[in-house]
Amino acid sequence: MKLFDVYPLFDVNIVKGKGCHVWDDQGNEYLDLYGGHAVISIGHAHPHYVESISKQVATLGFYSNSVINTLQQQLAERLGKICGYEDYSLFLINSGAEANENALKLASFHTGRTRVVSFNKAFHGRTSLAVEATDNPKIIAPINANGHITYLPLNDIEAMQAELAKGDVCAVIIEGIQGVGGIRIPSTEFLLALREACTKYGTILILDEIQSGYGRTGKFFAHQHSGIRPDMITVAKGIGNGFPMAGVLISPMFTPIYGQLGTTFGGNHLACSAALAVLDVFEQEHLIENAAQVGAYLLEELKQIKSIKEVRGLGLMIGLEFEEPIKELRLRLLHEQHVFTGASGTNVLRLLPPLCLSMEEAAAFIKRLKACL
Ligand SMILES: Cc1ncc(COP(=O)(O)O)c(C=O)c1O
Repeated sequence: MKLFDVYPLFDVNIVKGKGCHVWDDQGNEYLDLYGGHAVISIGHAHPHYVESISKQVATLGFYSNSVINTLQQQLAERLGKICGYEDYSLFLINSGAEANENALKLASFHTGRTRVVSFNKAFHGRTSLAVEATDNPKIIAPINANGHITYLPLNDIEAMQAELAKGDVCAVIIEGIQGVGGIRIPSTEFLLALREACTKYGTILILDEIQSGYGRTGKFFAHQHSGIRPDMITVAKGIGNGFPMAGVLISPMFTPIYGQLGTTFGGNHLACSAALAVLDVFEQEHLIENAAQVGAYLLEELKQIKSIKEVRGLGLMIGLEFEEPIKELRLRLLHEQHVFTGASGTNVLRLLPPLCLSMEEAAAFIKRLKACL
């Protein structure tokens, strides 16, 4: 059997990682400014993480959601504290798309409605409703094109208010910062108006913090820069530092009903030990503060580079928009400078490094980027 060939690959075989660095099978070292799509939060192969999940798998890797799992309870409690949502409840699943799927499903159970508002350039995952809410017709199969979604321009308050005023919108789903869409930030004014309109018209507000959350922007969630409180928040990527895991943070306005939501693997013992180890390292190494500081430095330095058309971002979620396509630049960064970066569309270079990126590593990146421009 061969692999189903859906990924355009770089010709690099990564076999080892440590902190913000990875190595290929030839022994070449690379600076990781992408964290494997924003997944590596505390750094590759962190010793505390390695020890925690190794011990857990040697004790109990998995038992089903039909028994008490104190690791899940510990995770809910600690996550609630660190992110400032202690009164919310946690539902655990395995991937970002699944988190959004469950959030949208719960919103529909709650409101009895079926229409969803999403935004131009949004990305919410590849399962049925999550992909329908994703503004990319190329990945929406005919079976997923069910007419539930209205896409609106981001930050257009009037268009949003007019749509919600129809009174039949189940949920609005919005990224804390659009990632795949090119690092586009919802304005504070827009988020405040959105919160108000959702409350007024009985629409559930879902913040997709799968890429922008978990400390990446220098606060636990990107929307916390605006001071709003959504009805549900979805998290994935950095929660397990590479161990597949995701969660929905659910406001007390929702009443849980036995059997309404469920999963086989979600919140298993091994996944919870990974997520708890991630929170330990966040606290011990002050990673959220580090993301704010190192991110501010990177943004300042990048904004001085004349050949970049626009620099957008917050903390360690940064997009560099160029006049011309960045495909060549990204290849040169990888092969000549040994730096991993990401892309959004054709012209935006995307930086999503581990949150432990040091000032020295950030400075090394700036030097290597300049060498390619
Ligand atoms: C904002 C956002 N939502 C949802 C997803 C989907 O997550 P997953 O690939 O874990 O299903 C992603 C993945 O890139 C994302 O960036």
